Amino acid sequence: MTYIRSQIVGCGHYLPSKILTNDDLSKIVETSDEWISERTGIKSRHIVAEDESTSDLCFHAAENALKNAGISASEVDVLIVATITPDNLTPSTATKVASRLGVQAGKPAFDISAACSGFVYAMTLADNMIRLGQAKNAIIVGAESLSRITDWTDRNTCVLFGDGAGAVVLQAQEGKGTIEDRGILTTKIYSDGAYYDSLKTTGGPSTTKSTGFLWMNGKEVFKFAIPAMASSIEAVVEEVKIGLEEIDWIIPHQANIRIIDGVAKKLDVDSEKVIVTVANQGNTSAATIPLALSESVASGKIKKGDLVVLTAMGAGFTWGGALIRF
Ligand code: ACO
Repeated sequence: MTYIRSQIVGCGHYLPSKILTNDDLSKIVETSDEWISERTGIKSRHIVAEDESTSDLCFHAAENALKNAGISASEVDVLIVATITPDNLTPSTATKVASRLGVQAGKPAFDISAACSGFVYAMTLADNMIRLGQAKNAIIVGAESLSRITDWTDRNTCVLFGDGAGAVVLQAQEGKGTIEDRGILTTKIYSDGAYYDSLKTTGGPSTTKSTGFLWMNGKEVFKFAIPAMASSIEAVVEEVKIGLEEIDWIIPHQANIRIIDGVAKKLDVDSEKVIVTVANQGNTSAATIPLALSESVASGKIKKGDLVVLTAMGAGFTWGGALIRF
């Protein structure tokens, strides 16, 4: 029996050129490189230019992913953008990006909103479409211009976030249905709206008629994130009946180094297997995972056949994991 797998055939990313360091931030709010580095592991982050928007970041990341995959935009069957900072509330940023890339008119394109878990959610949707035969090639993009919804007078939040985008091209390939197949082996996504107010923007179109700024209960997020991300990894690994020791790489959502270290410690995994990009990018929400994946593939760290697990947690709360044989 043939078994359809969604294989990652191309990765790409894009970071805006402007860099904001901790020292730069200490001139805007009362903070220091020492405080930010110690509490978060962040040293600098990229910030979009005045005339740059989330769709621009998506376009460059997706274009790079297509080039890496060696396929043209005209072969793409669906494009999904995970973001909480769309160019406009409607239409979706995905439609703009699809048109600019040259995806054929008539192909579905849409945004999803699952905050920092957005990329894992998008991957789940695209994988399901591919396995159902609804798409052969899918592009999924995680992209944010969080600097646009950051309150630059609030030192509790403005030191944490950054801008950027990452994209992957998924392609239907025949597998055997075993864990030796290359491609997405399984995904799990979760939410619990009881935490709706714990991490959010302070506004929205149907409440305040504005976007508001990012706000969070940092301690509550911290407490929830470690077990949620660790249990997502355990869930995908258990589903395919392998041991954690068989995993080659863990790509956690990059919110802060203490959360990342906490997940590694809880699972008792070697920190050498954990990909960390937070120092020079900060938290780019839906973009952190595809950015880290694309960079690690480009640098030769992640190789064909490696077992890679993704895990994320974000506003909602939402969380989830994905297990991939690259
Ligand atoms: N610089 C200097 N001092 C600061 C800063 C800053 N940037 N921010 C806060 N402080 C001060 C506070 O005002 C407070 O001062 P006080 O004691 O005089 O009131 C003191 O530092 C301690 O503040 P806490 O909030 O208790 O600091 P904490 O140790 O909890 O660290 C942090 C804050 C880093 C945000 C932490 O709660 C955390 O890691 N939370 C996880 C949440 C996270 O990373 N979220 C990202 C988005 S969510 C996601 O992606 C999953």
